[in-house]
This record gives sequence, structure tokens and C-alpha cells, in this order.
Amino acid sequence: MRSVKTAILISGHGSNLQAILDAATAPDYPAEIALVISNVETAYGLMRAQNAGITTVTIPHGNYPSREAFDAMVDASLKTHGIELVVMAGFMRILSDGFVHEWQGKLINIHPSLLPKHKGLNTHARAIAAGDTEHGATVHWVTLELDSGEIIAQSSTHIMAADTPETLKQKVHALEHALYPEAVKKVATGMLITKKNP
Ligand code: GRF
Repeated sequence: MRSVKTAILISGHGSNLQAILDAATAPDYPAEIALVISNVETAYGLMRAQNAGITTVTIPHGNYPSREAFDAMVDASLKTHGIELVVMAGFMRILSDGFVHEWQGKLINIHPSLLPKHKGLNTHARAIAAGDTEHGATVHWVTLELDSGEIIAQSSTHIMAADTPETLKQKVHALEHALYPEAVKKVATGMLITKKNP
């Protein structure tokens, strides 16, 4: 069965990367994880990828004079490896408009809130401060406006009185590990169907 050549972009721990790598070992999973790119040399996710036998590329953003120059390296690396789908999983860089234009429709992200609520950082503390009773994670298409692209999938949990930003973070992470592999599956399946029926 043909699968979609997929790259995962990370900056850190890579627990979502791990969840997708694990799901992708199923023979009928429609995405092949062909490349992992990190902008941080010490990202633990690089080790996870190497343990799974996946090609890794480290592109330290500090080595580049501008956001565009860094993004051009990421773009070149994706193209060199024939990547069709780009999955951002804890990639802590805002991408330039040029890069997003180039990859729009093939670029997805996971955000730790129930979008459109709480775009940006510190989502768990902000959900508690806002008095929300529900919180969660969203997988969405990446567009020029931060955390605003069309929603692909969401998963939610209740906020309890005893919850702190740290306990919520852990709950949301657990949701993400089920949500993201399923969302990647859905997107990759859609891509394969579209290709079969031009
Ligand atoms: C996740 O909570 C994700 O929503 C956010 O960054 C975190 C990455 O965690 N974008 P990990 O590196 O996958 O463990």
C-alpha cells in the first residue's frame, strides 16, 4: 500500500512524535515517517527518532541570520527527502509567510487548547484563569495566522477544581498522544484518496 512521505518537526521532548512513530508501525498506517527535523540539537525527540531508525536532521536556528534563511534550510531538507506532509509536534518556531505559502495544505500542527480558545503560549494557565470547565488539544492546518487554520480534530477533558497548569498539561498530553496519530492518519488517508482521483 502506498503511504504519504511524512516529516515531523520538533524542538524538544517529542512525546507526540513517539506516539506517531508507534502508530506508524502498523502495516496499514497511511503515513511513512521518513524524516524528523529539529531546530534544537539537544532535543530528546531526536533520540526517539534515531531509536526508531528514522533519518534525523538538526538545523539550529541560531546559525541562520534570519527566520527566512532558517526556513529555507528546512524547506530544502524536506524537498531533498521527497516529503509530502509536514507534521509540527512541539516545534517552537513561528514559520515565515513564504514557508507557510509553500507548504499550505501539507502542513499541520497540534496546539494544547480547544481552539479557537487560547491561541499562543501558556494555554493551561490561561484556561484555568478564564474559568473554563473544558480544556484540550486541537490538530489544525497551518495558515498564515497563528493557531487559526481549519480544525482537523479535537479532544477535550474536564477542568477540575484541583487542577493546576501542571496537572492540566499532563492530562492534555495524554489526550494528544491518542489524537495526533489519528489526525495524521485522517490527513494522510485524505491525501492518498485525492491523489487516486485527480
Ligand atoms: C504539546 O503539548 C503540543 O501541543 C505543543 O507542544 C507540546 C509538545 O510536546 N505544541 P512533546 O514534545 O510532543 O512531548
